[in-house]
Amino acid sequence: MTVLALAIAASVAACKKKEAPAGGATGTGTAGAGTAAPPPVTRPSQGALQAMPALTLPDDPARDAKIALGHALFFDKRLSVDGSRSCYSCHMNENGSGGADPIAIGPGDKKLTRHSPVLWNIGYQKGGFYWDGRAATLEEQATAAWAGGNLGVGKDNLGAKAAEVGKIAGYQPLFQAAYGDAAASPDRIAGALAAYMRTMVCADTAYDRFAKGDKAALTEAQQRGLDVFLGKGQCSACHTPPHFSIAMQVEGGVYFNAGIGTAGKAEQDVDVGRQAVTGNPSDWAAFKVPTLRNVARSAPYFHDGSIATLAEAVAYMANGAQANKNLSALLGSKNLTAAELADLVAFMSALDCGDLTEPTLP
Ligand code: HEC
Ligand code: HEC
Repeated sequence: MTVLALAIAASVAACKKKEAPAGGATGTGTAGAGTAAPPPVTRPSQGALQAMPALTLPDDPARDAKIALGHALFFDKRLSVDGSRSCYSCHMNENGSGGADPIAIGPGDKKLTRHSPVLWNIGYQKGGFYWDGRAATLEEQATAAWAGGNLGVGKDNLGAKAAEVGKIAGYQPLFQAAYGDAAASPDRIAGALAAYMRTMVCADTAYDRFAKGDKAALTEAQQRGLDVFLGKGQCSACHTPPHFSIAMQVEGGVYFNAGIGTAGKAEQDVDVGRQAVTGNPSDWAAFKVPTLRNVARSAPYFHDGSIATLAEAVAYMANGAQANKNLSALLGSKNLTAAELADLVAFMSALDCGDLTEPTLP
């Protein structure tokens, strides 16, 4: 909370207009009201903008080899219990690296409980993986996805599944290069998946080029949308540039109740989100602030995939968050006009990322 308060204070300070120079033609020293020219209208989009930092990782001479192994594993359906799915199946390019199903569907067509999030820039996150932040590291997350309903292998069967993958002839040189010998183990597989996921860096969007000074990178509508995003819409209090999520900047993540999944439900039927991790009632139905990078490509939206289109999602966040006992005070209506909402939506596609490349499987 303190960090958030500081971030808001900083952005408010940054937005404050420079005071109009005192004095004027009269030279009396008393700033004659009405005589000074009005200060120029401040457009946050035209000021200094946050650019993406480099992702710094500890030295690892075998990193490239781990990435090559993890890249193959991420796309390989043989990692799942029944050969039906790979990690990529729920984090596809077509869906912005999120999922197409409102609620993800695992092996055996078993419905999971939440929507697949966008994975771009996941390597920047300081802990707090998943919508509720329950996994501390990317390795822990990858192991959980592999064992749990996502790939359905089961905790007790990871060793056997790893051995099965290790027997595939084409994988042996990859394990050898990454880990010094050809043995496949659950930890090695999780480590390689994590190394690969840290290469999912989205840092050259139209917004990034604009922030670096290419003023032609954003259309007029997108620049107006960025003004609304940083200014009247107050989106950047939570979707803070350059990650477009303050959660990426704070150890363990940042969580808010945005009212999603609370409408028309008895309290005991609501997904309590972060509260299940912290036990803290103030975290009831609070979820991690997702990055908005690639958001225009990642419908449907929110932790329950309950909103189908970007226009609806943006309008919901700006003007219509569902009232409930724990709604964040930052989510009151901003009374944006239809034109401002349209500009905001236009700006969202300035955050489009690239695509993951599909490897040739061993
Ligand atoms: C059946 C669909 C499905 C499959 C397969 C799948 N995931 Fe996911 N993934 C999800 C869902 C749903 C969530 C969010 C779950 C939650 O927050 O409770 C998620 C969350 C994540 C996150 C956390 C993102 C964040 O913002 O913190 C990462 C990282 C991730 N998955 C990687 C993987 C990896 C690695 C694999 C393969 C081992 C995998 N996923 C397989 C559906 C899937
Ligand atoms: C109080 C913090 C906060 C503010 C302010 C805020 N958001 Fe969000 N936003 C969130 C959280 C938390 C979620 C995820 C909620 C959930 O799924 O339960 C979210 C989700 C979203 C999503 C869906 C992303 C996805 O991948 O599913 C969009 C789009 C979005 N916000 C846009 C905006 C816009 C535009 C504004 C400004 C009008 C805004 N938000 C203001 C916290 C905030």
